[in-house]
Order: sequence, then C-alpha cells, then structure tokens
Amino acid sequence: MKKIGILTSGGDSQGMNACLKTIIKMAERYNYEVIAFVGGYKGLAMDECRMVTSKDADMYFSVGGSFILSGRYAPFIEKKEWDRAKATYKKHNLEALIVLGGDGSIKAARDLSGVGMNVIVVPCTIDNDVFCTYRSIGFDTAVNNAVNSIDNIKQTMRTNGRVLIAETMGRHCGEIAMHAGLCSEADIIMIPEKKQSVEKIIREVGKQLKVGNNSPTVVLSELQIDINELAKQISETYNKECKAIVIGYVQRGGNPTVQDKLLAIRMGVGAMDCVLNQNYGNVVSLVKEEIKFIPFEKAINTKYKFNEELWQTFLELKRFKTEKKVAKK
Ligand code: F6P
Repeated sequence: MKKIGILTSGGDSQGMNACLKTIIKMAERYNYEVIAFVGGYKGLAMDECRMVTSKDADMYFSVGGSFILSGRYAPFIEKKEWDRAKATYKKHNLEALIVLGGDGSIKAARDLSGVGMNVIVVPCTIDNDVFCTYRSIGFDTAVNNAVNSIDNIKQTMRTNGRVLIAETMGRHCGEIAMHAGLCSEADIIMIPEKKQSVEKIIREVGKQLKVGNNSPTVVLSELQIDINELAKQISETYNKECKAIVIGYVQRGGNPTVQDKLLAIRMGVGAMDCVLNQNYGNVVSLVKEEIKFIPFEKAINTKYKFNEELWQTFLELKRFKTEKKVAKK
C-alpha cells in the first residue's frame, strides 16, 4: 500500500483538524496509508509518528487545535536536520509529505524539496501572512474571536466611561487587527502597515473625547508598542481611566467558523489532488476564489498586497465620527 506523511507545524490554527480529516478521508479513498508526524517538523526529524485513520480524526473535525499536535522546531534551518527528515521519509517509504503551517513551514518545505522529498503545503495560520493565498486557514476564526472579545469588553468600558486599548495577535502583520478593529467599530486602529506615532494615537483619543465619545476604543496589533505605557500616557493626558487588554490566545482557540471549515475542506482536497497528480512543491492557495497550486519559491517571494480599500473604509468611518458632515464626497 502507498503511504503519505502529514504534519502540522508552527502555531496551530482553527481548521487544521478539518483539513487533516479531509486529507485522511481522501487518502483512504485512494488506498493510501497516512502516517502523522507528531508535533511538527521535530516529529519528522526524530521519527516520532503514528498511523492515523479517518476514525482517529472523527471527533476533531469541528474542533480547534491539531489532534496530531504542532510545534515550532528552531533547528530545522540546518541541513543536517533536513537529512534526518529525509531518512525518516525514506524509512517509511513515503510517496509525499503534506505540511499544514505558515510562512516558516513553507520555507522548511522548500528546503525538504531541495533534498529530494515530495512536499505540499496547506497554509494554516491565524495571521493571514502567507501572501500567495487570499486567506490562510484559521484567520476567519481568529478575527471572529477577537471581535467577540472586543465587543464584550467594550460594553463594560462604555458603562464605566473608560478608554480601551485592545491588542490582537498577528506578529508583524496587521490583518487581524484591521479586520477586528473595523468589525468591532474601533475608533483608532494601529497596524505596522500604516505606521503611526504614540503621540498621534494619544491625539486621536483626544479628538474622540472632544466629540463626545466617552469611551474610545483603540485596536492595535502586537509587537508595535508597550500598551501598558500607552494606557498610562492616555490616563495622564486626559485624566481618564484607560485599560490595556491583550486579547491573546483566545484568538487561536475555539472551533473553526464555517468559512475556515470550508477553506480547510477545499484545501485538503487540493492537497490530495497534488498527491494523486504528482504535482509536488506547491502551496495550496486561494486565488480569486479558486484553489490554485503555487510553487514554493513563488509563494515565498509573493509580496504582501495590503488591503488599502479596507483601510480607507475605516478612515472614512472615522471621519464620520470626528469631522463635520459634508454634502457630497
Ligand atoms: O503565528 C501565529 C501566532 O499566533 C502569532 O499571531 C503570534 O505572534 C504567535 O503565533 C505566538 O506564537 P507562540 O504561541 O509560539 O508564542
């Protein structure tokens, strides 16, 4: 019987399990055995693995996380680790390896291809920072979770007349913050793609207070500034209570949304299509609503296309709150 390997790598994302189950079901239909490497690339390098069937995956289809466990494995940038991985691959006589992960996982997959392995990647990260695909699996759920959290916190902030600073995940990408900020009606959004000084953010809070917004909301993505320091400065400047909240792992947990499940199913089928057609070395991607296969090198070099239209929409709504009405645009 032919065999394929699967693994989930890096930070987990909601929908990984739905994608795994889809892949395993398709594999069984075409008479492949599936070996799961536990905990990501480390499992591959160390040959920590087990056979998995669609029955094993059954309970997890609608659940967040990864039932075969995930992880980051720093030594995997070294060639000796790829050679170890290749030895495992050969030992199990694998026809291909399907990796579910983000941008770092794609680079590692490219390196494994370079030493002669047949690899396919399905983009899974809440950050939506794999730029060859319009969406990565997990992003939609993470944004929904962030919006729910911010909406909840806003209710109590409003009641107590406090300023809210809510920090989202996203690493160096502002996609989660921009989408969550827009959908939770944030007054101010701070993202790395549109650099703004701390002073400007403080001034913007002041403008909101001036037009009668007693409880402005600032949504910003992580790794930009110290939000506790910002809260302190806002408090001191306007003599007003300000709470800094890190939304955190709430964003990465919970069951996937329908959008993420749909994407997981479509990309899982796409990954198995690649195996069946021996179309290796690709990232399964969503391009203009269609599933496409983008070669690793092209995927890695695809430039970030920031959603300027969404940003302008946010600015327009912000103007509506703070500026005088205009007759026409
Ligand atoms: O890459 C997804 C992500 O959740 C980022 O948004 C975040 O910065 C990072 O992972 C956190 O990773 P870890 O859980 O390994 O600290």
